[in-house]
Amino acid sequence: MEPSHSSLPIGVFDSGLGGLTVLRALKMKLPKESFLYLGDVARLPYGTKSQAVVRDYARQCLSFLLAQQVKAVVIACNTASAMALDVLDKESPVPVFGVIGPGARSAIGATQIKSVLVLGTGSTVRSEAYQRAFAILAPDIRLEARACPLLVSLAEEGWFDHPITRQVIEHYVSDVDWSRFDTVLLGCTHFPLLEPSFRRVLPASVQIAHGANLLAQDLKDCLAERNLQASESIPGSVKLFTTDRVGAGLALLGDWLSTTSEAQVVHFGP
Ligand code: DGL
Repeated sequence: MEPSHSSLPIGVFDSGLGGLTVLRALKMKLPKESFLYLGDVARLPYGTKSQAVVRDYARQCLSFLLAQQVKAVVIACNTASAMALDVLDKESPVPVFGVIGPGARSAIGATQIKSVLVLGTGSTVRSEAYQRAFAILAPDIRLEARACPLLVSLAEEGWFDHPITRQVIEHYVSDVDWSRFDTVLLGCTHFPLLEPSFRRVLPASVQIAHGANLLAQDLKDCLAERNLQASESIPGSVKLFTTDRVGAGLALLGDWLSTTSEAQVVHFGP
């Protein structure tokens, strides 16, 4: 018998482990839902690549998830959301969610002095996707964005709270005048994994924001509107796929995510 639409899983993808920070928020908000997570580690990082390449990768991730029969897709990657949400949204037969809008809204809710520092990958910063989102949602907020590309590898390696990670963060923010910013928006889904390191480096008065919880609420509302919520009384499952073997970080995340840290390796293309 075909599964009913509402009992299908939700597809989630990122270039690697970063999107698990989003998956965790989704699982907490939607405990009955099942999730398929794809980490495209074979082609990580996305954050140094051009829009054409990231769009191509994102399309392949979408096709893989659609082939597994999902009822919605979450782009749990700022870079892919910034560069490919528009095309995926157009091409997908199921609803697609990105992280830029929810990220912007979380920072807008956090800043008291209307001044936000966004940290992300080079491609996200160059895309100016956050500038466009803030211009629509809160044009009075002053925004500065910085690329912190090395942090992606440190997260994949599991150096979540590590002296080297702290040094790298210090390097990236060394010339920030903290009297001008009260909120840092983690505009890369890998960065919340490094929150213990960020917390030690950033002044205690600075709020750390990211969009995972608001995205989870958006998804919940959408499923309710379309009558697509899972109705089972048992907790949903999580299945992990990666496009190659992963760094040490995944093994450290099993408990945190309260799911298996075993991932099935799948290969794309020739
Ligand atoms: N986690 C991804 C993001 O949010 C990018 C990491 C990468 O460069 O692949 O942008």
